[in-house]
Amino acid sequence: MDGCHTLRSPGLAPCVLALSVCSALRMASCHVMSESVLPASEDKTRFVRSMFDTIAGRYDLVNRLMTFGLDQGWRRRAITELGLAVDSVVLDLGCGTGDLTREAARQGLRPIGVDLSFAMLAASRRRVGPLVEADAETLPIGDGSLDGLVSGFALRNFTDLPKVFNEIARVLKTGGRLVILEVDRPRSPLLRLGDDLWFRHVVPKIGALFSDAAAYRYLPESVAYLPNPSELHALLSAAGFSQIRRTPLQGGLAQIVAATKATVGYVLGDAQIADTTEGAA
Ligand SMILES: C[S@@+](CC[C@H](N)C(=O)[O-])C[C@H]1O[C@@H](n2cnc3c(N)ncnc32)[C@H](O)[C@@H]1O
Repeated sequence: MDGCHTLRSPGLAPCVLALSVCSALRMASCHVMSESVLPASEDKTRFVRSMFDTIAGRYDLVNRLMTFGLDQGWRRRAITELGLAVDSVVLDLGCGTGDLTREAARQGLRPIGVDLSFAMLAASRRRVGPLVEADAETLPIGDGSLDGLVSGFALRNFTDLPKVFNEIARVLKTGGRLVILEVDRPRSPLLRLGDDLWFRHVVPKIGALFSDAAAYRYLPESVAYLPNPSELHALLSAAGFSQIRRTPLQGGLAQIVAATKATVGYVLGDAQIADTTEGAA
């Protein structure tokens, strides 16, 4: 992963750069509704759509300014983690302006992008496959039609995670691969402190300069939507995923969670079902 090299080198600057990646990606989901208040679940989908419609035009610019492009290494890693053969059909869920969609195409996959925000899709610069405006909870895609599904920095924006995971399991073939790329909470107290200082005090000013100031006050709150690793594991297992593996990236600044849609063996004769779901690696 390209971004890792930066953090492994000595000195403070690489740390700050990596922190900026994490913070900026968190900020991508920020738009203030009211002071320090996350939208209630019944308002969340409408709120999130409106937020991304508002920031779409500057989304790529702000991301690049605040991440120095380091998030691209994480995206490459996420597509690699799918482990799919060339020409496999993969859905990029919450594709936004299409960074992961383009990376999937670059790695020889056949991507479809789905996003809630039409403005984000419209802001996609180089289109490499069909782009569809739809909600992750009700995908306009047939059962078992995808080899893989990837979702980058979108998880915390979804409203009903069990519903979304069931929907993902529905559209994947048995044995199909799921990869989620998300921000994480740094393990080390020092990294946590730096992360906190960065995104509470520095990044909001950068965001205000180049995008929607109000959006970036929502930043510190958005991470609260993320389930912790064991909750996420339980949610994925309940939706029928196996081989669930979580990989923290760069000390927990980001994470990749990969899983496989479990094989279900039907025992003919007595209609029993053998579920081969495994525990976490
Ligand atoms: C932080 S952006 C990430 C965009 C892109 N995946 C990337 O890596 O840059 C999150 C995206 O998820 C989309 N999103 C949020 N909730 C969604 C939902 N319920 N269904 C589909 N897309 C959704 C947003 O519109 C937004 O474009």
